[in-house]
Amino acid sequence: MRKRVVILISGSGSNMLALLDAVEAQQINADIAAVISNQADAAGLQKAAARGIHTEILPHKHFPDRAVFDQELIKLINSYQPDLVVLAGFMRILTPEFVTHFAGKLLNIHPSLLPKYRGLHTHQRALDAGDNEHGCSIHFVTAELDGGPVVAQARVPVFTDDTAASLAQRVQIAEHQLYPLCVQWFCSGELQADSNNATLNGLPLPAEGIQFRLNHANTLEKLA
Ligand code: GRF
Repeated sequence: MRKRVVILISGSGSNMLALLDAVEAQQINADIAAVISNQADAAGLQKAAARGIHTEILPHKHFPDRAVFDQELIKLINSYQPDLVVLAGFMRILTPEFVTHFAGKLLNIHPSLLPKYRGLHTHQRALDAGDNEHGCSIHFVTAELDGGPVVAQARVPVFTDDTAASLAQRVQIAEHQLYPLCVQWFCSGELQADSNNATLNGLPLPAEGIQFRLNHANTLEKLA
């Protein structure tokens, strides 16, 4: 059975596009059931619609509080009966009720090598710390912000002349390869999770997830 995936975005949707590309290229064996945004002007919405994907807007500003919004979002997502919900630049903190509802089938991408730099401004924080390596993490979402089991990480070098923008661009090159890979692992059944633990091919994932690095040709290489 082909899995059904719902993608949540708030902005440009470049990770969403990488996922749509991977589905079209049959690198992900799944159907993208819908793309949902909390921002009516998210550029990603038009890009998804142009590819023939159902899009939905649920503006959080129309709801009295986070709990009510999240309940509506749960209903909207469930109307598409997804096997997997993918957060791709969805800029909302989710309630424990939401996270519990989708436990084991909610993935996020975070632009740092977790557990470093949870939260915002990760690229600048990596530069300020003088790190010579930075990257992104794909993780299952739990009630702890950017704290759920890590599935995989992609490492990129930090150069002395990097700005937050140049570093973000390099990290995104890695993101656009790593997220489709992890989504396919889930859709093929290789990657599974319950509320606290994740396994790949039946084996527990290492705490830092499966490790990759971006090589000189801008391609991800798996590290031993
Ligand atoms: C990505 O850098 C991701 O790591 C973070 O938000 C950004 C979304 O970018 N969670 P895009 O909308 O996919 O272009």
